[in-house]
Amino acid sequence: MKALVYNGPHDVSVENVPDARIEQPGDALIRITTTNICGSDLHMYEGRTAVEQGKILGHENMGIVEEVGPGVTRIKAGDRVSVPFNIACGSCRNCMGGWTAFCTRVNPTEGVDGAAYGYANMGPYDGGQAELLRVPYADFNLLHLPAGEEHENDFTMLSDIFPTGWHGTELAGMRAGDTVAVFGAGPVGLLAAHSAMIRGASQVFVVDKAPDRLALAESVGATPVDFSAADPVEQILDATHGRGVDCGVEAVGYQAHDPSGQEHPELVLDNLVKAVRTTGGIGVVGVYVPEDPQAADEGAKHGRVGFDYGTFFTKGQHMGTGQCPVLRYNRGLRDLITAGRAKPSFLVSHELGLDEAPDAYRHFDKRDDGWTKVLLHPGRAA
Ligand SMILES: NC(=O)c1ccc[n+]([C@@H]2O[C@H](COP(=O)([O-])OP(=O)(O)OC[C@H]3O[C@@H](n4cnc5c(N)ncnc54)[C@H](O)[C@@H]3O)[C@@H](O)[C@H]2O)c1
Ligand SMILES: [Zn+2]
Ligand SMILES: [Zn+2]
Repeated sequence: MKALVYNGPHDVSVENVPDARIEQPGDALIRITTTNICGSDLHMYEGRTAVEQGKILGHENMGIVEEVGPGVTRIKAGDRVSVPFNIACGSCRNCMGGWTAFCTRVNPTEGVDGAAYGYANMGPYDGGQAELLRVPYADFNLLHLPAGEEHENDFTMLSDIFPTGWHGTELAGMRAGDTVAVFGAGPVGLLAAHSAMIRGASQVFVVDKAPDRLALAESVGATPVDFSAADPVEQILDATHGRGVDCGVEAVGYQAHDPSGQEHPELVLDNLVKAVRTTGGIGVVGVYVPEDPQAADEGAKHGRVGFDYGTFFTKGQHMGTGQCPVLRYNRGLRDLITAGRAKPSFLVSHELGLDEAPDAYRHFDKRDDGWTKVLLHPGRAA
C-alpha cells in the first residue's frame, strides 16, 4: 500500500510499504477515505520529538471497514467508521473511567499511559496517512457513521480536533452564558471556539496573529484578537470591563511564540492566567512535552515551563490538561453534525491526494496563508 513515511526533520515521503493487516483477533482493517494533517504532526515534522524513522504518520482517520478479526462482533466489513486518535483497550482502569487517552494497557513505553496512531512515544502503531490502517480493539474504539458519503468533511473532524476543541471547553469548566478566551486559531482553537458557541457562550475571543485564521474565527461568531497588533490580554480586559473572561482554552502548545516568532513556552499560560477572571477555569489542550531538546531555555528542555503559578493560585483558578479522550464526546458530536447544529468542516482549506501530502506538510508547517486544515483522500485520484 502507499503511505506517508517520516524520514527525518522536514522530510516525509509517500512510499510503497507492506499492507496493514489484521494481527490480533480484535483488530479491524480500515480502508481510509479521509485522513487529516494535524498541528500535532508538525511537532514530529519539525524534529521536535523522538519519533522513529520509517513511522507512518496520521492519527485523524476515517474510512470503510475492509475486514475484521475473528473476535470482532459489533463492527462489520462495509461499515463507515470514525477512528478516535486514541487507541484504548476498553477494560483497564482508565478506560473504564472514561479516560481512554490514558489507557494503561496499550503503550509498552515505560511510564507512559495512552497510545495513538502514527505518533511519537504513543506506542508501536502506524498511522493512517495511508491506504489501509490496522485498528486494535475495534469493537471498543470505532464509531459508526451513517452509510454513504454525506458530511465526510465534518465527520473527519471527529477523530481528534472537534472532540479536542470541545474537551478544552470542558476542562475549562465552561458553562452556558460564559465569556471564553481561546488562544490559538489553528484547527483545534477554531473548533474550541465553535464548541463554545454551540455550548452557549455569550462571547468567545480567539487570539492569533494569522489573518486568515482570525477571519475563520469571526465566521463562526467569535471575536478575533490579533496578538501582533497589541497585547492580547489588554484587548480582552478592555472588552470585559477589566474583569477578564470566565474561562479560557489553551490551543497553542509548547511552541507558543511572540509576534516576532521567538518561542516562549510559558507565554500563553501567562496570558491565560491574566485574561481569565478570579476563580475561572483554564483548559489546556495545546501539547506540552516532558523532554524538548530544542527548547528555547534550559528548563523547558526538560519540560519545566515557568508560568505565573503565583497569580494562578492567588486568583483561585483551576486548570485541566492532557490529550482528549475522544470516545467521551464523539457520539454526541456526530449527532450534532447530523442534526445540522455543528459544521466543523468550515475550516477545511485543502482536499488532496496522498501523493500531495509532502507538499502539504511544507505549506501547513509554515502556516502559509490559507493552509488551515488539509484533508487527504488516499483512495481518490489526485
Ligand atoms: N490535547 C489533544 O488531544 C490535542 C489534539 C490535537 C492537537 N493538539 C495540540 O493542539 C495544538 C494546536 O494544534 P492545531 O492543529 O490547532 O495547529 P497549529 O499549530 O497550526 O495552531 C497553533 C496556532 O497557535 C498560534 N499561536 C502561536 N503562538 C501564539 C500566541 N502566543 N498566542 C496566540 N496564538 C498563538 C499559531 O499562529 C497557530 O495558528 C498543538 O499543540 C497540537 O499538538 C492537542
Ligand atoms: Zn490531531
Ligand atoms: Zn485501557
